[in-house]
Amino acid sequence: MHIFKEIAPLRDHLKSLRSGQSSIGFVPTMGALHKGHLGLINASKNHNDITVCSIYVNPTQFGNPEDLAKYPRTLEQDIDLLEQASCDVLFCPSNTVMYHRAEPLTISFDKLDRILEGEFRPGHFSGVAVVVSKLFNIVQPDIAYFGQKDYQQVMIISKLIEAMKFNVQLHVVPTVREHDGLALSSRNQRLSVDERNRATVLYQGLRATQQGLIQGLPLSELRTRVAALCDSKGVRMEYLEVVDQDTFEVKESPTRAVILIAAYVGNVRLIDNLVVESQDEIA
Ligand code: PAF
Repeated sequence: MHIFKEIAPLRDHLKSLRSGQSSIGFVPTMGALHKGHLGLINASKNHNDITVCSIYVNPTQFGNPEDLAKYPRTLEQDIDLLEQASCDVLFCPSNTVMYHRAEPLTISFDKLDRILEGEFRPGHFSGVAVVVSKLFNIVQPDIAYFGQKDYQQVMIISKLIEAMKFNVQLHVVPTVREHDGLALSSRNQRLSVDERNRATVLYQGLRATQQGLIQGLPLSELRTRVAALCDSKGVRMEYLEVVDQDTFEVKESPTRAVILIAAYVGNVRLIDNLVVESQDEIA
């Protein structure tokens, strides 16, 4: 695997590959890699000649300095995992490389960046959009791979690609879960064993909401029930919402919907979601 910390040599390397007609798949990450990320790498390897991964903990998408400081950083281990997965190129820039001498830039998305994650993490999606734009400009991939676990992020990236006319195809890969339903996340590394076990309540809450909606229960009641379920495990639910898969409008029916949850397990904030196509799927 070729490892680059600077933009110019990475660009030179990719230029020579591109002139040989190689297609480039790109997996942007913040490191602390797990099987979910490796699923993205595998998807890219299956569709492209060359797979590029980036590892960069982007400061502009963190509103809380403590969250940024505590974000897990495991570069050596990540490099081993990427080598094992036969990733071709790793880009792991510093803050200086990504932001030095650049004017602070923000990108807004009408309503989508102000609801759910956007409401509880103001400025988060602007930071994501700015860094992903920079990464797309640097790597110029044919296809970029993102995990469905960050559902709202995927919607933001899709709007970004459309608005900025990036010549990139977006490929979304389903969430990878542990045997008990816990969605894989880099933040899980910050959980104690006890917190890790209690964290399954997010997935249980999503399933309970799905069942409740099928039974015709109002979302307000389901929200109260899931918050109480979380409470019983010492987990603090931040939001539980049901939105249309495509428009992100609030929805009360479980057809073509996505149920989203965010909760604090100890000091660690986790998010998860469940995509529901139709009532038949659940029966
Ligand atoms: O999903 C992530 O890991 C990050 O938000 C991303 C897309 C790499 C941007 O920093």
